[in-house]
Amino acid sequence: MAHGTGPGPIAEDGSAVEYYLTAPADEASASLVHEALPDGASVLELGSGTGRVTVPLVARGHPVTAVDASADMLAHIPSGIRTVLSGIEELALDERFDCVLLMSFLVNYGDRDALLASCGRHVSPGGRVLIQREPTGMFDEVPREWTSQSGVHTRLSQVERVGPDTVTATLEYGSGDRAWTHTFTTRRLDDDELPHVLAKAGLRLDGFLTDDLTWVVARPLG
Ligand SMILES: C[S@@+](CC[C@H](N)C(=O)[O-])C[C@H]1O[C@@H](n2cnc3c(N)ncnc32)[C@H](O)[C@@H]1O
Repeated sequence: MAHGTGPGPIAEDGSAVEYYLTAPADEASASLVHEALPDGASVLELGSGTGRVTVPLVARGHPVTAVDASADMLAHIPSGIRTVLSGIEELALDERFDCVLLMSFLVNYGDRDALLASCGRHVSPGGRVLIQREPTGMFDEVPREWTSQSGVHTRLSQVERVGPDTVTATLEYGSGDRAWTHTFTTRRLDDDELPHVLAKAGLRLDGFLTDDLTWVVARPLG
């Protein structure tokens, strides 16, 4: 079961609210998404956290609906941006969106079929679902330490392979003199499996946004 430790509120999935609050906006992901979409396309962002991608997407002209199961996370989304407090799995909005965004590797961590079904329910007939998955090679050689683009140093400890395609581990990361841990389970989603899991959600694979194939583009079937 995912959990986290450290200062401030911790979301149910183990993510530390104060870390995401102090981390810089994720302009790179927002640009990637923006460039994949028509101008002004509406976006349903699933697992928005404190809005690190929401805010730069709104700045690029997209009306964004930010969904998260954590009220503590959503409390930091600037007023004027629509928020919905809900688990992704049970989300059932009456409207459809030009883009449904499921990033931050949630497709590897969570109930994959239920998460993708929600994407399928909420995308408009001509729209697209953008999914960020872990690189499939990560499950063969689990990285132990890295520094993110924004300079945050992260260590993985207690790495345990609980199956050929499933790893549990604890992320240790910090900001200034504050430190958090996040223990999680992640499950490989490889290229062969991708079309099948998408089809179960009424989606088809339409391509990739990045050369490393981690950003997947899916479209509604039919
Ligand atoms: C790792 S954080 C990333 C937040 C944001 N995407 C970012 O890059 O800053 C993951 C967020 O997804 C939310 N989350 C995870 N699983 C969820 C679920 N099943 N339903 C709704 N929210 C979920 C968590 O509460 C957390 O805010």
